[in-house]
Amino acid sequence: MTPFAQRMTSVRPSGTKEMTARAGALRAAGRDIIALSQGEPDFDTPPDVCDAGVAAIRGGHTRYTAVAGVDALRSAIAAKLRRENGLSYDPAEIIVGCGAKQVIFNALFATLDPGDEVVIPAPCWVSYPDMVRLAGGNPVVLDCPASSGFKLSAEQLRAAITPRTKWLILNSPANPTGAVYLDSELAALGEVLRANPQVWVLSDDIYEKLVYPPARFATIAAVVPELRARALVVNGVSKAHAMTGWRVGYAAGPPDLVRTMAVVQGQTSSHTSSVSQYAAVAALTGAQDYLPGFVESFMQRRDMVCDRLKTVPGLECRIPDGAFYAFVSCAGLIGTATPDGRRIQSDADFAVYLLEQSGVAVVPGSSFLAKGYFRLSYAASMASLELACSRIRAACEVLVREVA
Ligand SMILES: Cc1ncc(COP(=O)(O)O)c(C=O)c1O
Repeated sequence: MTPFAQRMTSVRPSGTKEMTARAGALRAAGRDIIALSQGEPDFDTPPDVCDAGVAAIRGGHTRYTAVAGVDALRSAIAAKLRRENGLSYDPAEIIVGCGAKQVIFNALFATLDPGDEVVIPAPCWVSYPDMVRLAGGNPVVLDCPASSGFKLSAEQLRAAITPRTKWLILNSPANPTGAVYLDSELAALGEVLRANPQVWVLSDDIYEKLVYPPARFATIAAVVPELRARALVVNGVSKAHAMTGWRVGYAAGPPDLVRTMAVVQGQTSSHTSSVSQYAAVAALTGAQDYLPGFVESFMQRRDMVCDRLKTVPGLECRIPDGAFYAFVSCAGLIGTATPDGRRIQSDADFAVYLLEQSGVAVVPGSSFLAKGYFRLSYAASMASLELACSRIRAACEVLVREVA
């Protein structure tokens, strides 16, 4: 008999955090490890944003705030959504939480009854299916292969919807694939949603700012305004403003939903740190002149990594349009044997082999519900990425193919 709740039996720890912990343990034991498993920019939080945080502490903004966030931040978010996304939300339709992660969890927890279904296109962020399970719902994972650009089609969505479908979760640019939906693709998905009024759509736009031309960002609530009453737009400052540790994410949506999410948050974390909220105001209202540099730098690293990895025998690497991950197929190496005679039977075996053999930490595709891949974060210095690519090549070249 386990002392733990029944609901925990179907929930896994995050695969990303697991690989990062494994890499950390090897590093602590003295190994030279290049950790490309974590999903965070390697830039420092911009100085003006840090200054705003310090000013908030010195200015006495160190007490509890409103559950949904301070007015200054909700107004800054409303202005951002209007200015950059053409979306009109009142501050009362906006809630701030401890990262986009908590905001998404709150939305699912506030809305799912046992048996409710959530459609999740895969490959997907590790947390969506487990959050759905934690909230008592059933994740309905739809396989979106490389041949469809790792994107959900309107036909797939139409076929998956049942009377129990509560949410569709969209994530563009996507983690782990970097796929970016076109306006026309969102419009086609929107058509299906319009015909199914019981289905809400959660658009996780956390990688909005990390899109590489000619690709451009679009969000379904702006493309299909008719969905406004059942769309939740989720975003945050973690990725765009290099603020992962500050823990500020937000959502804009119909007032009833936002109020119910605030009830969940009010009984759990209350709100994110007051200091972080004021830093986020500075991030959203400031010059943001660091952004083009971030994007340019990620693009150069993306191009270098994809160029190098696509010539490694057994690997295939598509060029992602956004985010900061390469999602690399290692299907060609499944079934090979390591120099010491161990068989690589899965992407997880391959990721463990890479870590042990070459000291490069990546996350297996199965963590993102896509077997035969690994995700490499290129949010690292060019020098360590070059070294990682050389080590990956060397590790792949010594794998032995079975002779028939
Ligand atoms: C797709 C996606 N959504 C949400 C998050 C969570 O971001 P935050 O740091 O704002 O909680 C992540 C972080 O890795 C992510 O990849």
